[in-house]
Amino acid sequence: MKWLLGGLLLFLIAVLGYFWILFRGPHMRVQQHILAYQWSAPLPPKGMVPVDRDPYAVPEAGPAESMKNPVPDTESSRERGKVYYGYYCLACHGPNGQGDGPVGYSYMPAPADLHDPNQIAGSDGALLRAMLLGPGHEPVLARVVPPEHRWYLVNYIRQLNRAPRQPAYNPGALVPKS
Ligand code: HEC
Repeated sequence: MKWLLGGLLLFLIAVLGYFWILFRGPHMRVQQHILAYQWSAPLPPKGMVPVDRDPYAVPEAGPAESMKNPVPDTESSRERGKVYYGYYCLACHGPNGQGDGPVGYSYMPAPADLHDPNQIAGSDGALLRAMLLGPGHEPVLARVVPPEHRWYLVNYIRQLNRAPRQPAYNPGALVPKS
């Protein structure tokens, strides 16, 4: 009996001790610590200069205006542009570039109608800038569309602009009627 009581007492002391340490004992916060979301990247040492050019940089407005499109405006380059259009633009500007894509529907103002000659006035360089940094895109598209896809898109947009208008895209028509 004595042993049992002694054992129970020891057990009780151990349990109380455990909880005391858990709630009142030394905390990790007493040490130097970093909590979640408290960390920020250290600043680079003073006087550092970047040596790589930003591969996604978009030409400034002035130089863009006089830039020559390095990709010839051929059928195959426009075909390639069409594929890229499907990657980056179709969701908003619609399959025929009329500003009626499934995502574009929720936009206010609506995505530009690329059949409107005013939307693509100016040089190829200016169009390149407008499609990457123009209202409705900035700065996301400039970070998404890699430079090797950009001029093909310009060629395709010019073709879209020349093409005859199509009936408005109707996403409802895609829902099977049962
Ligand atoms: C997230 C939706 C979205 C995507 C994706 C998008 N656009 Fe747009 N775009 C817009 C909206 C919205 C406008 C019109 C903004 C306005 O009228 O203020 C616009 C306007 C334009 C204009 C006219 C710009 C100007 O300065 O007048 C061009 C050209 C254009 N888009 C081309 C493109 C091309 C090419 C792509 C694909 C590389 C693309 N857009 C992808 C939403 C989008």
